[in-house]
Amino acid sequence: MPPSDSSNLLPGFELPKPPLKTRFDLHRGDCIAGMERLPAESVNVVVTSPPYNLGIDYGTYQDDLSESAYLDWTLRWVEGVKRVLRADGSLFLNIGGSAKQPWLPLLVPLALRDTLVLQNTIHWIKSITIESGDAEPVSVGHFKPINSKRYLNDCHEYVYHFTKYGDVPVDRLAIGVPYADKSNIARWQHTAGRDRRCRGNAWFVPYETIKERSKDRPHPATFPVKLADYCVRLIGKAPEEVTMLDPFLGIGHAAVAAAELEVAHFIGYEIDDVYLSAACERLGVKPI
Ligand SMILES: C[S@@+](CC[C@H](N)C(=O)[O-])C[C@H]1O[C@@H](n2cnc3c(N)ncnc32)[C@H](O)[C@@H]1O
Repeated sequence: MPPSDSSNLLPGFELPKPPLKTRFDLHRGDCIAGMERLPAESVNVVVTSPPYNLGIDYGTYQDDLSESAYLDWTLRWVEGVKRVLRADGSLFLNIGGSAKQPWLPLLVPLALRDTLVLQNTIHWIKSITIESGDAEPVSVGHFKPINSKRYLNDCHEYVYHFTKYGDVPVDRLAIGVPYADKSNIARWQHTAGRDRRCRGNAWFVPYETIKERSKDRPHPATFPVKLADYCVRLIGKAPEEVTMLDPFLGIGHAAVAAAELEVAHFIGYEIDDVYLSAACERLGVKPI
């Protein structure tokens, strides 16, 4: 397959010019079986979003397990991740709920309490309204209205940052933001004169604007490339030293982030042929 051109990519994202620096191993098949074949402690960062068990139509995967079967399965794939993760590695696990199933994204980290340490909880904000002073409120992001007498619009998901021991340093300023009040730069010694502070754990990352859903985002539940990008930047490692894994590849948004950041090695698994092909086409690589 020829290297991808930017027409296969999402608006606003361009892969580096070929040949890509990242080595891609995109596997067709079950991630639990696949991860068993990877060497122990070989992965620096996992950025992933498993199926949420909300009955989404994924094509191949049946997204309607009982709650206990889903949590057992979650534990199994996370144990697979734990085995391949380095001692200073990070798992960023994105999950959301629904108005009628609000507990699930909270039960998942609870089920993992004895397996990994929850080092940070990040709120992925998809849409928000900012009111500042007397100015008109500004609404930004993708807002899909629901008509309900009971529920608020759900404008966020979780990204749980798990590590093995809870002591992994993060490069907060790698995804930092400028100070709104510049007098803080001189006031706080730790800034060392730099106009940059921690972004905090509420990340506003809207979906990329697309023209045609079936062509530009042929998958029912994706995360933006930028979300994965932030996670990888946060670990603060030189990209040429990073091995990244997404056990639930989908159409490959984490893989696109890996290509853009030029991480050395990216490994992905996907059980659905259609999604795997879309990811491979985007990156101009052949599936394994
Ligand atoms: C929430 S989606 C991931 C979407 C991805 N983050 C993206 O932005 O394209 C979860 C994906 O996991 C895949 N999947 C489900 N069970 C799997 C398994 N056991 N091994 C590998 N992939 C699986 C589904 O087919 C689905 O595409």
